[in-house]
Amino acid sequence: MKTVEQFHLEGRVAIITGGAGMLGVMHAEAIAEVGGYPVLADIDETSAIREAKKVADKYGAVCLGIKTDITNKDEIQALCDVVLQKFGRVDILINNAANDPKVKANDDGTWSRFENFPLELWNQDISVGLTGAFLCSQVIGAEMANRNGGVILNISSDLGVIAPDQRIYFKQGLPAEKQPVKPVSYSVVKSALIGLTKYLATYWADKNIRVNALCPGGVQSDQPDEFLEKVVFRIPMERMAQKDEYKGAVLFLVSDASSYMTGATLIIDGGRTCW
Ligand SMILES: NC(=O)c1ccc[n+]([C@@H]2O[C@H](COP(=O)([O-])OP(=O)(O)OC[C@H]3O[C@@H](n4cnc5c(N)ncnc54)[C@H](O)[C@@H]3O)[C@@H](O)[C@H]2O)c1
Repeated sequence: MKTVEQFHLEGRVAIITGGAGMLGVMHAEAIAEVGGYPVLADIDETSAIREAKKVADKYGAVCLGIKTDITNKDEIQALCDVVLQKFGRVDILINNAANDPKVKANDDGTWSRFENFPLELWNQDISVGLTGAFLCSQVIGAEMANRNGGVILNISSDLGVIAPDQRIYFKQGLPAEKQPVKPVSYSVVKSALIGLTKYLATYWADKNIRVNALCPGGVQSDQPDEFLEKVVFRIPMERMAQKDEYKGAVLFLVSDASSYMTGATLIIDGGRTCW
């Protein structure tokens, strides 16, 4: 087999949670480009259907958008059943959905600081980013185990391996106890996904299921200039990522190109975690 052919995914079916979001669509495009069938599983039905149609039209691929709340095991089972009815198989699961509790412009630290962070928000973030990945792996991973093969890719973050540098969120004029911070739930979810990755990689190694984690650095979108300046100062490449810069890595991780890789964490962050 030519090396480039190892990246082909002809006829392979990939479920992407949070598939209608910014990076979910990029993962779907990468998969559709090489002959795979992406399924965008997202709680936002309208966006899932709309984005799936765009990917299908762009690549002449089969791409489905299916409403799924990944915090609900019955909905995940229903998703898996629909995918099996339609395609007869599922080969790839990308655990991508997560809440990203952003530091808001008007935040005076009353909710984001560790001492104040509401239990309700903690539970919501853990439920989507971590319990959702656990439940999807349980249902869809078990299906792959029965078929004796598959790939799970957990989307972690650079904040899965380093702590947030809270100086990035510093606001002039506020006392220390009111300074906003990146909430603790994000760090906990993203580092826990690395633990889940290693656990499942060993648990299902004998079922030919490979499980890896990708830690992307921040993607530039509409962040204010002041924030961008502080972030890029902490990145050796002096810029945030473009949203399509993880496509190659995702393709590598979900295809046979990474056939000897499991339980690993791939960090792609412009060098940020070197410092
Ligand atoms: N964007 C970045 O800069 C960045 C950096 C590092 C890691 N990541 C990680 O990459 C992943 C994707 O990020 P993104 O920027 O595309 O996020 P996004 O907010 O654009 O997309 C998240 C998607 O998840 C969906 N979702 C939320 N709750 C759900 C639920 N209960 N069930 C099913 N779907 C649900 C949302 O509807 C949304 O479409 C996340 O895990 C994020 O933490 C993102």
